[in-house]
Amino acid sequence: MKDCRWEPSEQQEQVASLDELRQHCATAQSDMLGHAVLTHSAVRDVIEDHETFSNAAGSHLSVPNGMDPPEHSIFREVIEPYFSAQRLSEFEPACREIARTVISQISKDKPLDVVSNIAKPFALQIQCAFLGWPDSLTGTLGEWLEANQKAIVNNDRATLNQKANEFEALIHKQLEARRKSDAPKDDNTLHLMREEVTLNGETRHLSDEEIVSILRNWTAGEVGTIAAAIGSISYFFAQSPNVADKLRNNELNTDNAIDEILRIDPPLISNRRRAVKDTEISGCPVKQGEKVTVLWASANRDEAVFGKADTFNPEQNKANNLLYGGGIHVCPGAPLARMELRIFTEELLKHFEEFEVTGEPKRANYPSGGFSDLPMKLS
Ligand code: HEM
Repeated sequence: MKDCRWEPSEQQEQVASLDELRQHCATAQSDMLGHAVLTHSAVRDVIEDHETFSNAAGSHLSVPNGMDPPEHSIFREVIEPYFSAQRLSEFEPACREIARTVISQISKDKPLDVVSNIAKPFALQIQCAFLGWPDSLTGTLGEWLEANQKAIVNNDRATLNQKANEFEALIHKQLEARRKSDAPKDDNTLHLMREEVTLNGETRHLSDEEIVSILRNWTAGEVGTIAAAIGSISYFFAQSPNVADKLRNNELNTDNAIDEILRIDPPLISNRRRAVKDTEISGCPVKQGEKVTVLWASANRDEAVFGKADTFNPEQNKANNLLYGGGIHVCPGAPLARMELRIFTEELLKHFEEFEVTGEPKRANYPSGGFSDLPMKLS
């Protein structure tokens, strides 16, 4: 009988190890993740039952990820307009400019690391532009994210607290600059400062703590996943040049193709829940208060739903793709993420015809998806 245990810290190739484990178990046990949910149907059961599986799984305020209804719906209403079609079309030219600048700095025919030279700079610059933060913050943000990710992997509470304080200080600086200015620049950070919520019959502005939390979630949500996605898309073009050609010739819908590439090679590995009552997941008993982790990186490659996990089939797999989650916590930033990745891909395919992996790529460790090193040559 296979031992259904899975510790993220022990995995070199997390997606491959999940593929193997899923053949024997719908859920696995883990010190770090609690009940690790592996199959598509079990993940769906968990995310669609927010009354049994609460998102209030951590000890810090997390707006809106760590909230349950009715509080969750109140804050979702505040953030959803930031990803509306109108706001995104206003942001599109800046987004394209950043993609063009990052891509124009790549030397043709010269080996480079896609992660550090393309994916991370694009994701960091886009994040700063979306929030109206100065470009000079990209370096600090990049270092912050790396150290924060490392602390998550090592379950290093002291460093995580220190990183939370550093992020808070960074945001306070941004808020103070806008408060001190007589005519602050109209940007998404300023918009958040002007938002109001009605809780328990009282209408008030968002507190600084809530703004910090929203911005931390957007930053952690955006930069890591967008950077991982760009690595995976570039790698996919090297493995499947015919897909790159079809996209270039407009024979495929770019958004659907990217969603499918990222179903195959997931940028986000998992999210947490906590059981609020005794229950079961695919026959595995779960006690009230126990940790549950949904593994998108496993569910989205489940052979029972997608057949061979690596087969690129955007039209057939679209309806079941859990790339952006599902249920009440479905990713509100998906329209933004799709726009950024579409623009990046369009610009990349305009500039380069051939994608070649030139060395040994290294997969990223939990909680990141994608690659940590991706040596490639673009021609
Ligand atoms: C390729 C990029 C991205 C992927 C794959 C992704 C994926 C996801 C997934 C799977 C969830 C559900 C989490 C859960 O059920 O616990 C989620 C939630 C969320 N995402 Fe994204 N995301 C991406 C980009 C973004 C961006 C660009 C933003 C904002 C700037 C964002 C903001 C959020 C927020 C705030 C939530 C929490 C929503 C809630 O709890 O109601 N994400 N994302």
